[in-house]
Amino acid sequence: MAAEREEIMNAPTGAIARKVLESAHIENWRRNGFHLPIRVMSEEDAADLARRMEACEAARGPIEGNDRHKTHLLYTWADEIVRHPRILDAVEDIIGPNILCWTTNLFVKEAGSPAFVSWHQDSTYWGLYPDDAVVTAWVALTPATVESGAMRFMPGSHHSDQIVHEDTYDANNLLSRGQVAKVDIDESATVDVVLKPGEISLHHIRMLHDSGPNMAGHRRIGLAVRYIPPYVKQTKIAGDSALLVRGRDDYGHFHPETSPRADADAAAVAEHAAAMDRQVATYLQGTDKTKMRA
Ligand code: NI
Repeated sequence: MAAEREEIMNAPTGAIARKVLESAHIENWRRNGFHLPIRVMSEEDAADLARRMEACEAARGPIEGNDRHKTHLLYTWADEIVRHPRILDAVEDIIGPNILCWTTNLFVKEAGSPAFVSWHQDSTYWGLYPDDAVVTAWVALTPATVESGAMRFMPGSHHSDQIVHEDTYDANNLLSRGQVAKVDIDESATVDVVLKPGEISLHHIRMLHDSGPNMAGHRRIGLAVRYIPPYVKQTKIAGDSALLVRGRDDYGHFHPETSPRADADAAAVAEHAAAMDRQVATYLQGTDKTKMRA
């Protein structure tokens, strides 16, 4: 494991033939902990995925609670996103050719909604080790602008250790515990993660980030996809699972998950429910909570 990780994370930036990212992008990733924007599909294709998502909402109701997480096990449009070749090409440039999707988190902010995300590091409750090989691809299906509540990153914050977080359970906070990093933020140093539909940003698991309310007249829809190489381990619970989306898994640290064949059919609902039991146990370990909030 150590050798493979060493090879991926520390190779000279010009030494490997990469698929999407250029040497300067890799250097940006290592120095600042993120890279953006990357166009992975046309605006039309992104709009089509958003329409399919909204058709699922029309059929089954709002995608909330547990359904906001590991959404790709429930719905085919989300499964297509996590398997999208160009997203995987970009992720491969950072973590190598063997890729698992550990989870997805759907972040919908309705027009005029006060929903927000407090400053946090994703690493806080996930239990993944080693965590510097965990890459999030945040996929914009509608415009992510400052007005519509785009994320903000704190460049270089991934170099810091795990920061202590305080759980607030604020009703408008989209995080599982409403967790807030106990750290002073220099607002002037932050970067707005402005994305057009069909573009993604990539960020490191320890990147400090937040996002504000949606003051725009449209829904802001984004799917955060969490990718790991197969040598990563889950340290908090036994029997965690993940979906192999490229290459091979020679480690078997995660039980293999299965993609949905149709939107929320019986098999997909069962697969998603079983996977979410494990994920809820991971996210909420150490609290008195037993299910994800709406
Ligand atoms: Ni986050």
